[in-house]
Amino acid sequence: MIEMKKTIQIAIFASGAGSNAKKIIDYFKNSECIKIRLIVCNNPKAGVVDIAFQEDIPILLIERGHFFRGDAYISTLKEKEINFIVLAGFLWKIPQSLVAAYPNKIINIHPALLPKYGGKGMYGHFVHESVIANGEKESGITIHYVNEYFDEGSPIFQATCPVLPTDTPDTLAARIHELEHIHFAKVIESIV
Ligand code: GAR
Repeated sequence: MIEMKKTIQIAIFASGAGSNAKKIIDYFKNSECIKIRLIVCNNPKAGVVDIAFQEDIPILLIERGHFFRGDAYISTLKEKEINFIVLAGFLWKIPQSLVAAYPNKIINIHPALLPKYGGKGMYGHFVHESVIANGEKESGITIHYVNEYFDEGSPIFQATCPVLPTDTPDTLAARIHELEHIHFAKVIESIV
């Protein structure tokens, strides 16, 4: 009997520039079994919206009330047959209902070595400012499953990089972005 492989249809949730989203889109462009089907964004002015247009990927602009007090767009995601969610710089917490609708099917990337420098308010440059202010010699990235608490789901992958004495939050952010761009799509491929 021939076994049919199920296509994995991914939605990328992003709030910002979308450099990770772009890398993931490029990586899976010619994949037979992994398709980037939707970009979900909470900010119509975010760079990731332009990327979605350029790449001809449908975009779902979400609204806070519907996300947190409505059905968290679960019916829309299911209608579009999304079966895996990747958070790539998405800054809203994922509601419990959405976590329950996609058990072990939502992952996030965080720009530090969790469990350090995670939690509410710890995103983007706030993370790098804290890492530098605390005199850390090393930072890195964490890719983890998402539960209903900020940055607390089971870790999947970490990679490290040095923090240099001359680093500013911007130079450290650039080094972290490099790590993210190298690893994120490969880790997605290995787990879906
Ligand atoms: C990335 O560095 C990602 O790790 C971080 O936001 C950046 C998004 O960059 N995410 C968080 O801080 C989540 N807590 P991008 O828009 O260029 O992909």
